[in-house]
Amino acid sequence: AVPSMASSDDFLQCVRDKIAGELVYTQCSSSFAGVLVNYIKNAKFVNTTAKPLCIVTPTDASHVQAAIRCGRGHGVRLRVRSGGHDYEGLSYRSARQEVFGLLDLAALRAVSVDEAASTAWVESGATIGELYYAVAKNNPRLAFPSGECPTIGVGGHFSGGGIGMMMRKYGLSIDRVVDAKLVNANGDLLDRAGMGEDLFWAIRGGGGGNFGVVLSWKVQLVPVPATVTVFNIAKTLEQGAIDILTKWQDVAPALPSELTITVMVTGQQAVFRALYLGECGSLASTMRDRFPELNMTSADCQPMTWLQSAALSFFSFTNSKPVEDVLLPRPASPTTFSKGKSDYVRRAIPKAVWKEIYASWFTMKGAGVIVLEPHGGFMCGVPEDATPYPHRRGVLYVIQYIAYWMSADGGPAATSWLDGFYGFMAHHVTKHPREAYVNFRDLDIGQNALEDDFGAAENARFWGQRYFLSNYEKLAKVKAAVDPTNYFRNEQSIPPMANQP
Ligand code: FDA
Repeated sequence: AVPSMASSDDFLQCVRDKIAGELVYTQCSSSFAGVLVNYIKNAKFVNTTAKPLCIVTPTDASHVQAAIRCGRGHGVRLRVRSGGHDYEGLSYRSARQEVFGLLDLAALRAVSVDEAASTAWVESGATIGELYYAVAKNNPRLAFPSGECPTIGVGGHFSGGGIGMMMRKYGLSIDRVVDAKLVNANGDLLDRAGMGEDLFWAIRGGGGGNFGVVLSWKVQLVPVPATVTVFNIAKTLEQGAIDILTKWQDVAPALPSELTITVMVTGQQAVFRALYLGECGSLASTMRDRFPELNMTSADCQPMTWLQSAALSFFSFTNSKPVEDVLLPRPASPTTFSKGKSDYVRRAIPKAVWKEIYASWFTMKGAGVIVLEPHGGFMCGVPEDATPYPHRRGVLYVIQYIAYWMSADGGPAATSWLDGFYGFMAHHVTKHPREAYVNFRDLDIGQNALEDDFGAAENARFWGQRYFLSNYEKLAKVKAAVDPTNYFRNEQSIPPMANQP
């Protein structure tokens, strides 16, 4: 229920009593707006959203525990933000008029590497760029499989899976998490042994903001060679982009797992970007044997360290700055507006359809980009229910749709392109359900009602199964066991599902 003014005041008083003043920003604080915007990644959400009653910036687990106890005690929900990259901004805004407090974990960002054990503890407020940097600076032959934008927060990213350029070799980030520390809805601080295996399963891919606040994660690091090789090859339609892309769909998921080739479709071209955990000679010979259509040669090879490859720009796949200047800064004030969606493909899309996609959708006003990331390799060997992320065996690739615009008036063209294209693609991607990736969150696929009701878990099944397939039900039951009053709740959180008597 929406709390009254009195309970909001009591909540604020409780927070002020329990947590040092300099860590709490109320709407009256002169720095409130700055702290709120600091980790907003999408310009769309800077001015247009229901704002938190206060922002708490914990520097210690006890602050998180106190904030949750105050929230529970006075009927005020908390949202938690790590890197603020949520596509729908659910970590810091409410899409509807709900009253909530914000826990901003940006100050909980330590990374400590145990080189001898090849493990690290990383706090949720660290970015994946900071994680990559700390790991490789400690030992350049160690790495970690996560996503492709250095400012993504560890907290949200790990909560939803973590796909990236090494997933074909080493899986998702969650496949390498071996322990975690979490504060639950009662304010208890629990590690893996304390939370039990079901909750530990759920927090590794079941989506952020559902089960508690994860403070830190213990991860198993992975070995990489001293030199890796990347390439970046753009093909226009005249250069055969459609034929090569059509072939890529079956080839890329079947390549040796050391080699990942993603595709960015933009305008009238396809850009093939690869990371190979090995040297140029064997990459060029694998490409000659397995994917001659791309016509890749050793002249395309760019040798570098794994850390340099992790600092390549997402859009240009080039590297012009020192790694520190790419992986460590946390730019404030977003300038780009965006909306994302996702799909999974299990049967290659025919050439004629790609022709139509280029002719109709990528000539349209407002057209954005799509990024295709192959699965296969390690991903095939993980059972669908090993983690909540179910899109494993049989998936050829995931599609990420990105509509973006640079000023507010560009929104209608970009979003109508996205909606139309996504509608068109329904025929060509997975169906019943149409699978989606929770870390590319999309409120269009379904939302909880504003007020809880007894049917909430059944209503949420529709979109929950799209993210989690048959794991949805286990997630909803874990939720009932660990947060039966549904304290951690948002527009697309998992509602508790009571066990049948
Ligand atoms: P944010 O802080 O917004 O949190 C996201 C969700 O998790 C919210 O619901 C939040 O409440 C919850 N949450 C945050 N911290 C939590 C914690 N400590 N405990 C519990 N819940 C918590 N994905 C991918 O897999 N591979 C990729 O390469 C990319 N690339 C990419 C690029 C860009 C530019 C963007 C904007 C996004 C991506 N993503 C991605 C998606 C990204 O993985 C996803 O948005 C993550 O949830 C972001 O995590 P943050 O901590 O930054 O988000």
